[in-house]
Amino acid sequence: MRLTDPVCIKGFKLPNRLVASPVASATASVEGGPTEATFRRVEAILSSRAGLVVMEHHAVHPWGRVRRSQMMLHSDQMVPLHRPLAEMIREAGSVPLVQLNHGGSAIAEADLMDLPDFRCVAPSAVPHPAKDGRVVPREMTPEEISELPSLFAAAFERGHQAGYCGVQVHACHGYLLGQFLSPITNRRTDRYGGDLRNRARVLLEVVEALAERAGDSILAVRLGVADFFPGDDPRGLTPEESCWVARELAALGVDLIGVSGNLCGPDAPQGFDPYSKLIMEAVGDRCLVECTGMVRSAERAQTMLSSRVCHLVGVARPLLSDPSSLAGWVVGS
Ligand SMILES: Cc1cc2nc3c(=O)[nH]c(=O)nc-3n(C[C@H](O)[C@H](O)[C@H](O)COP(=O)(O)O)c2cc1C
Repeated sequence: MRLTDPVCIKGFKLPNRLVASPVASATASVEGGPTEATFRRVEAILSSRAGLVVMEHHAVHPWGRVRRSQMMLHSDQMVPLHRPLAEMIREAGSVPLVQLNHGGSAIAEADLMDLPDFRCVAPSAVPHPAKDGRVVPREMTPEEISELPSLFAAAFERGHQAGYCGVQVHACHGYLLGQFLSPITNRRTDRYGGDLRNRARVLLEVVEALAERAGDSILAVRLGVADFFPGDDPRGLTPEESCWVARELAALGVDLIGVSGNLCGPDAPQGFDPYSKLIMEAVGDRCLVECTGMVRSAERAQTMLSSRVCHLVGVARPLLSDPSSLAGWVVGS
């Protein structure tokens, strides 16, 4: 596998194996659509010539937002607003996916709580371990949990209508689906908490709802594989548990699993290579695996592919600092 090799995901041919991973721009309008600043950001990202572009996390519901300026796909009125963005990515020759998220208790702006009807919910009434502890979420009711698959499914349909080639479900970095996966934030005693099968249940129900509708669209999941970085003392969700989750996702028809961290966040000092290798081994040839984190040279990206850490390599912060230099990784001089 070479970084410059094309790769097919479902019916979509990516010109190379470089992925522009999602980077939230905080540039959305009050409605949750893109602004001029969003278009400028995406234009810069496209200069990387990445084969797959995963657009930043879009909230599936206003109370799944983490900040006011977050992009949203919560209503049908969003479709025409997002269409030009998806079109711009396709016209540049890249395959666009849109990331769907519910933030749960991981809100970035405490004053969201002042909005009428905003609900700060989580699997359990446990303050988010990566936050300052001042926000204590309300435990989700079984009825609220049962609404999640349809919220994600409706957002998926809107993304499809807007021209995205598929979606990536955000199940990492300690947002709601990751909060369910982790025993640190999920203390439930019903069928959505306790053993791994129960903690993964809501993610699998969401993915099942999307798989039923996916048709020709790409279905991807970004999985927070552990609550601790490679080499650190284990706590919470473990990579071994996530191998089981990854196999279940592949069995449901997920086309691409992105590997990242869960409650520990995405910034592993040495990247997530050991975890990604485990996930590759767990899913075999049943789905593709992408790994993002601390990839700063074409040589490192190529080594990851050659040593079967992953099938695709993601970059994020280099998209903000010097995106056009990434084109040199994938386009011959
Ligand atoms: C400003 C910024 C915004 C981010 N927004 C998202 C996001 O919307 N969704 C997501 O899954 N990850 C997000 N991430 C995490 C990145 O996709 C990536 O996992 C992380 O930056 C590590 O990769 P890197 O070393 O290539 O930057 C964001 C990172 C940064 C720096």
